[in-house]
Amino acid sequence: VGSEVTGGGAARSSGSRPARSVAELRGSGSPSSGGTTRRHVLTAKTAAVRLASGREIDAWTYNGRVPGPEITATEGDVIEVTLRNSDIEDGVTLHWHGYDVPCGEDGVPGVTQRPVAPGEEFVYRFRADQVGTYWYHTHEASDPGVRKGLYGTLVVAPREGRRPDEGSGRQQVDATLPVHTFDGTVVVGDQDGRTVRTAAPGTEVRLRLVNTDSGAHRLALAGTSFRVAAVDGRGLHHPEQVRDVSLRLPAGGRYDLVFVMPDADVALVIDNDRDTGVWLRPDDGAERGPRIEDTSQWPELDLLRYGTPARPPFDPDAADRHFTLVLDRAVAMVDGRPAYAQAVNGRGHPSVPDLLVAEGDIVRFTVVNRSLESHPWHLHGHPVLVLSRDGTRSSGGPLWMDTFEVRAGEVWEVAFKAANPGIWMNHCHDLPHAEQGMMLLVSYD
Ligand code: C2O
Ligand code: CU
Repeated sequence: VGSEVTGGGAARSSGSRPARSVAELRGSGSPSSGGTTRRHVLTAKTAAVRLASGREIDAWTYNGRVPGPEITATEGDVIEVTLRNSDIEDGVTLHWHGYDVPCGEDGVPGVTQRPVAPGEEFVYRFRADQVGTYWYHTHEASDPGVRKGLYGTLVVAPREGRRPDEGSGRQQVDATLPVHTFDGTVVVGDQDGRTVRTAAPGTEVRLRLVNTDSGAHRLALAGTSFRVAAVDGRGLHHPEQVRDVSLRLPAGGRYDLVFVMPDADVALVIDNDRDTGVWLRPDDGAERGPRIEDTSQWPELDLLRYGTPARPPFDPDAADRHFTLVLDRAVAMVDGRPAYAQAVNGRGHPSVPDLLVAEGDIVRFTVVNRSLESHPWHLHGHPVLVLSRDGTRSSGGPLWMDTFEVRAGEVWEVAFKAANPGIWMNHCHDLPHAEQGMMLLVSYD
């Protein structure tokens, strides 16, 4: 792979980065008017956790459970979380995945803070200005930490009144469902096997799916038409109803699926396994199911062609910087020595040069996957606007993601606005790949 260089923008090696204090870029102390401060204490510890089936797993947990406590807030609240480490020898942090927190709250060891060692604590504080479905996880020893259970969800509701897409006003189901694999068993929320819930026919159901694994999951919603109301927490622009399609949820990604409960069963099928996932039944007690069809052949919905076109808030063709990232396996220079790595432009972290941006820049990325594996590419602190995949421009509504999956051989173009000063991780969210070097820093000048 040699010396594939970054595009027009400047690059310099991590080693020459001037000492600057990201630690000073901390979160706001006060909620907006009408808001409140939501305080939580999360204690990281090893624990034997019993799943719904009775099976026991040896987990690394926040507060002794997997997933960790669900953190919820209303727009404008302040979220304050005290992280304590009881006995995770590797150390822990909290990274707010997809949430554009001030850099000092981002939870990246070696960049924004030291990892929290057993007996220590760290307090995170930030204002919940972004509505939607997000998650948190450790960023120290992220693999194995996340795989073993150091994750949970973060959901922020809008402050004013009701959502415009809310239907009849009858009570709705709003469920946040992290999907995680423990030793080959898929666990949805805290349930292995199928979760059964009820909903009143005619009411709105919102399922917030969060992929906390390192690989993608295939989702199929059987028995109803639905809308993908949000991707990675951000609402789509007038998304149309679809039916009998599947969705591929990348590692780290989130989809909010919204539908009106019919008067028959609805099933969310994960990875074509009808015994895993969520089964919704009408709450009137009538037995009308299961009549769920085989979903395994349903075509995949292409989100680059979904939703109603609208002008994005900046012009990606007027980019100030353009970087090209080539992802591949390589024998690469890692810390001055050749080693086998998951490489970016022929190098492995920490030998990949930082990408330098200035506040206010519009930054364009071309991400080229030359390997035979999938690379869910994640940027901290900023949502990216998807422009094209393999040269075909995104033709649906503006699609914002924080983790976009560049499959084997694909080329993606994305852009973002540099509006959150600091030093930000940019890495593959197949976490073993990240640990093997597929990671770099985007640094504000
Ligand atoms: Cu979800 Cu850098 O991580
Ligand atoms: Cu990867």
